[in-house]
Amino acid sequence: MFLPSTIAFIVLQSLFVLTRGQTCRNLPLYAPCSTNPDCGCLPFSSADEQSGICAYLHLNASKLRTCNETNYYCDQPYTVCIHHPKLSISQPLCYPTGMAALDLCPSLKTNSSSSTLSPIPVEEVCRNVSWAKQGRTVAGSNYSGTALDQLRSPTAILFDLKTNTLYVSDNGNARIVTWQPAAKRGNVIAGDNGEGNRTDQLGWVSDILMDSKDGSLIICDARNRRIIRWSRRAQQGEILINNIYCTGLALDDQALLYITEHDNNRVTRWILGENITHDRLVAGGNGKGNRLDQFNEPSAIFVDQNRTVYVADQSNDRIMKWTEGAKEGIIVGKLRWPRTVHLDQSGNIYSIDGYYSRVMHFTRDNVNGTIIIGEKQYTLSQANDLAFDQHGNIFVSNYGTGRIDKFDIDRSACSSRNVQ
Ligand SMILES: *[C@@H]1O[C@H](CO)[C@@H](O)[C@H](O)[C@H]1NC(C)=O
Ligand SMILES: *[C@@H]1O[C@H](CO)[C@@H](O)[C@H](O)[C@H]1NC(C)=O
Ligand SMILES: *[C@@H]1O[C@H](CO)[C@@H](O)[C@H](O)[C@H]1NC(C)=O
Ligand SMILES: *[C@@H]1O[C@H](CO)[C@@H](O)[C@H](O)[C@H]1NC(C)=O
Ligand SMILES: *[C@@H]1O[C@H](CO)[C@@H](O)[C@H](O)[C@H]1NC(C)=O
Ligand SMILES: *[C@@H]1O[C@H](CO)[C@@H](O)[C@H](O)[C@H]1NC(C)=O
Ligand SMILES: *[C@@H]1O[C@H](CO)[C@@H](O)[C@H](O)[C@H]1NC(C)=O
Ligand SMILES: *[C@@H]1O[C@H](CO)[C@@H](O)[C@H](O)[C@H]1NC(C)=O
Ligand SMILES: *[C@@H]1O[C@H](CO)[C@@H](O)[C@H](O)[C@H]1NC(C)=O
Repeated sequence: MFLPSTIAFIVLQSLFVLTRGQTCRNLPLYAPCSTNPDCGCLPFSSADEQSGICAYLHLNASKLRTCNETNYYCDQPYTVCIHHPKLSISQPLCYPTGMAALDLCPSLKTNSSSSTLSPIPVEEVCRNVSWAKQGRTVAGSNYSGTALDQLRSPTAILFDLKTNTLYVSDNGNARIVTWQPAAKRGNVIAGDNGEGNRTDQLGWVSDILMDSKDGSLIICDARNRRIIRWSRRAQQGEILINNIYCTGLALDDQALLYITEHDNNRVTRWILGENITHDRLVAGGNGKGNRLDQFNEPSAIFVDQNRTVYVADQSNDRIMKWTEGAKEGIIVGKLRWPRTVHLDQSGNIYSIDGYYSRVMHFTRDNVNGTIIIGEKQYTLSQANDLAFDQHGNIFVSNYGTGRIDKFDIDRSACSSRNVQ
């Protein structure tokens, strides 16, 4: 298809401008959102126009393509479908995400690190780093149970840096609990009404994430084939999406939600506004298999600042990386039954080998990875998920025994510059 050179330029530019932008929520069209007066809010084109991007406004309309009016899809990479009536009254446009970059449209707010995407650990991890061989139990115990000082078959965990709180999907007890540092017991924040499909119940929770906008949790309730939002202090959840067998969730800094659809062997993207809207297929969708454009029962997912997704391709024993708009992925990690994916600031990948129950670390030049936790058998018990705190200490959920262990980071082998 004919591509005007300016579009090529804009697209190229948006590839190189790190597209870390701000979203606008509940702000009117063109509302000021940046210290640059030439930037304003452009709502996403969808049924839900509560969210959008803060972008440079004065592009030449004739250089932009229109979105597919049926599904608001933009087939050009690095563009999003928005409304910009001054440029096009009737039709939504595919706008380059590079026009929303923070260096073009700096935030109005003073440096508050509000990004949901700040890489964790926040502190850079040096090449020679290691972690304690033995962990300390920080939630639950060696005995599974239903009491609040116990956990049963925990799956997903996350660590909230703002409040230093560990969130645990206490799956066997059909509830989600939080543990403060040094707490002797957890607090129930969701569920605890028996396993079931009512909105105050949970089925089988495969992943959780926090929407930093309001601190609500987004929950993959896989057994009930639904994704729910559970607001702070709510007595029940609100169904966001039904009929989806979700095993992994990730949220990028433009409030786009990425979902691993286990049985559809694909990753889809959704616009998370007041009402959630399907955006596009992001990876897979070519049937079940082991080609580079396929998955076999994908589980966890991670999205980086360039909207590249990293997918634990569980039954293919590999971790795949798909850049935005790619037709196929590349293999960036090889391990048995990968259970989770995390990236640090340097682009190193962390995952769990579900078969051998250990935590693996992959650098750009080593897809085979190295074992960082669990080299000795029985250190971990059916490890299921991991989370970092800001220093790089690692929490691991042990599905088998019902406890969360913390493994301290050891930077003593880093050069002095990197020692904390
Ligand atoms: C994003 O892309 C830019 C430009 O290609 C690159 O310099 C940067 O390292 C990438 N970021 C991540 C997290 O991969
Ligand atoms: C969201 O959905 C509800 C119920 O269908 C509807 O009343 C509301 O107007 C929608 N909001 C937006 C912004 O589309
Ligand atoms: C937009 O592009 C068209 C075609 O290249 C050109 O004729 C027009 O002058 C441009 N408008 C502005 C405002 O730059
Ligand atoms: C727009 O999307 C619909 C539904 O996915 C599809 O059938 C149609 O061919 C698309 N139109 C164009 C012009 O790509
Ligand atoms: C914002 O960040 C810049 C660069 O990191 C720093 O120089 C500046 O002092 C910060 N401003 C505030 C108000 O914190
Ligand atoms: C769990 O068991 C191990 C080995 O028996 C023991 O060293 C550890 O203290 C126990 N942890 C808790 C929290 O009971
Ligand atoms: C919820 O569970 C009940 C009992 O198992 C079942 O009869 C009902 O069909 C389920 N409802 C939905 C919406 O799946
Ligand atoms: C990874 O393992 C394969 C086979 O097990 C081996 O051929 C390859 O050299 C290894 N790569 C690295 C970087 O160690
Ligand atoms: C890693 O350790 C080696 C020696 O053990 C040292 O020479 C090197 O500087 C260290 N690298 C970093 C990044 O700390």
